[in-house]
Amino acid sequence: MAVDTILWEGDANGSLRLIDQTLLPAKYEILDCRTPEDVWGAIKRLSVRGAPAIGVAAAYGVYIGIQGFDGNDRAAFDKQFRETSDYLAGSRPTAVNLVWALNRMGRVLESIPDASPAEARERLFQEACKIHEEDRAICRKLGSVGSEAVSDGANLLTHCNAGGLATSDYGTALAVFYAAKEQGKKIRVYADETRPLLQGARLTAWELHREGIDVTLICDSMAGSVLRSGKVDAIFVGADRIAGNGDVANKIGTYPLAVLAREHGVPFYVVAPVSTFDLSLESGDEIPIEERDPAEITDGFGPSTAPSGIDVYNPAFDVTPASLVTGIATERGWVRPVSRDEVHRVVGD
Ligand code: MRU
Repeated sequence: MAVDTILWEGDANGSLRLIDQTLLPAKYEILDCRTPEDVWGAIKRLSVRGAPAIGVAAAYGVYIGIQGFDGNDRAAFDKQFRETSDYLAGSRPTAVNLVWALNRMGRVLESIPDASPAEARERLFQEACKIHEEDRAICRKLGSVGSEAVSDGANLLTHCNAGGLATSDYGTALAVFYAAKEQGKKIRVYADETRPLLQGARLTAWELHREGIDVTLICDSMAGSVLRSGKVDAIFVGADRIAGNGDVANKIGTYPLAVLAREHGVPFYVVAPVSTFDLSLESGDEIPIEERDPAEITDGFGPSTAPSGIDVYNPAFDVTPASLVTGIATERGWVRPVSRDEVHRVVGD
């Protein structure tokens, strides 16, 4: 991807720079985040979004929380770190990469109890950069693993945005398309527009088109007839959290797509890094599902499209049962079939 979705500008005294994804595709603007509040707000309003990108932003965010710490009091330093971490953890509940990244930063701090605040600060900066760098390499690996399931001439479909804008490099599900293209395979992609916030139309169509991939935008409600007409050979989506039994939480509208895929005999693949698995959860029933502002449905873009005061239900994610998922591509290889044993074999430590 030729875009820096997340960038750390400068040395340890620098700042976090993010593409403001709420403005795409109309405007390409960079947000400068210098406080934990800036990072919390960017995550909450989806200026930075997508599970891996949220994790990287949170790692830098918790670093920003102690970046300006003055003095030698290590207990006070740790307290400030913990408070920032807890604060950022509350920004969005579903994508586990957020808490995964914060916990990883926390473990680094715990592993150096005798370090001074200045030393601990430096170590935390290095760790945030490492999380960012590792995410880039993981995207490449996901692309290589997932593209094994793409044949030359394939027609593919995706939902939401699991691309460069959702990660540090070229994505999870969309990494598969980019890798297939690099391998010389000719592919065509249908992108669901993804109501209510249109990540498919605004972000996926934008980034695939920019990268020269043949992409056709459809409304979510058209996926059924497109699948029925035999125009789709496989579906690839990302994930926000995957439970120990392989149930997958992803953007609202993923579950009905998986049901349609089963009905029409189309393989349904999930592409996700190991950091998206939450083996502490037995099943997808335990995944917390974020509910968002009703205005996203009634007044999403432009004039109001619903009667004023109407009751609205706006869950941002749904859960697809493992039984509907053909396989999960990870940086460690395939989870296939998607069963508890197979998840633990591939992802368990
Ligand atoms: O609400 P969003 O835009 O953060 O939702 C993003 C998704 O659901 C993506 O499909 C998921 O995070 C995978 S990102 C590689």
